[in-house]
Amino acid sequence: MKALLYNMTPEQKVYVDKWNENHPEDDLVTTDDKLDAKTVEMAKGYDVVSVLQVFDIDEEEVYRKLSSYGIKQIALRSVGYNIVNFDFIHKYHMIVTNTPAYSPRAVAENTLTSAMYLLRKWGPILNNEKEHLNFVREENLMSDEIYNQTVGIIGVGRIGSCVAEMFHALGAKVIGYDLVENPANEAFLEYTDFDTVIKNSDILTLHTPLEPSMEDMISAKQFKEMKNTAYLINAARGPLVNNHDLIAALKNKEIAGASLDVMTGEEAIVMKKFNDISELPVDYQELAQMPNVVFTPHSAYYTKTSVKNMIEQSMTDVKRVLNGQKPIYLVEE
Ligand code: COI
Repeated sequence: MKALLYNMTPEQKVYVDKWNENHPEDDLVTTDDKLDAKTVEMAKGYDVVSVLQVFDIDEEEVYRKLSSYGIKQIALRSVGYNIVNFDFIHKYHMIVTNTPAYSPRAVAENTLTSAMYLLRKWGPILNNEKEHLNFVREENLMSDEIYNQTVGIIGVGRIGSCVAEMFHALGAKVIGYDLVENPANEAFLEYTDFDTVIKNSDILTLHTPLEPSMEDMISAKQFKEMKNTAYLINAARGPLVNNHDLIAALKNKEIAGASLDVMTGEEAIVMKKFNDISELPVDYQELAQMPNVVFTPHSAYYTKTSVKNMIEQSMTDVKRVLNGQKPIYLVEE
């Protein structure tokens, strides 16, 4: 097979090179460019394209041209598939595969890290130390212990169930909401409805895909219903949370803090360096000044296991499709 992998990163390239070594019949070619109407012509002559990106691929020309080159599959090296326009995928008779199982543990462990960081007030502690050389054990730094917290999970799929298992093991009460309930998860959590999760969680963590109907799933109404001691963790997709309402809720102390691995507008900051806070988009400027808010650069997934599996699982499905087999991870929209 001859595949063009857009948006290549140095750490993924290591596994691309390994794949080429181990599969002499294949030719994986990489480019740093993202796939868009300007770069789509590079795909001429390839059997398939693969992408890893947070940018939407919404120009019809991309799909029209890929199809005219005989390309029938876009192989995403990600869990999320919201960057793809499925109307165009169907119109041009293409399929999309993704890599939903590259490492649910990676995101789950990051969620656990975020929860402990927030709960044990490391944001304000580090802020006192680093900004003010203040090492006083102030009363507002006293924290809670995870075993007597309620952790609420919205979206109990591969990642969400792993999160449930981890918090359950630490003794927390875990409640969750999903459209589809998997009885196997009941060993770790109690399924309930969306509103009950919102109202009862001390730690509320999101693990759903982004469907258009889910935009702003957490906005003013939910912040008002949440406990004012609750922490929000979003390592799923930025638009699930309304930025404006989140900032208002933090300012009005409707919630106690947040950990954001993703955020609407993240394209403007992720993988970039800045010299001064004033260069950040306005939402980020406000949040960056709050010690009870932590950002990570869409890095919850970013482990060695994930990176390796993103290449191996995406390329395995490319080979399967080219050999006339059903892919393991077909995205059905
Ligand atoms: C995903 O796998 O969906 C991610 O969000 C991680 C990555 C593509 C940046």
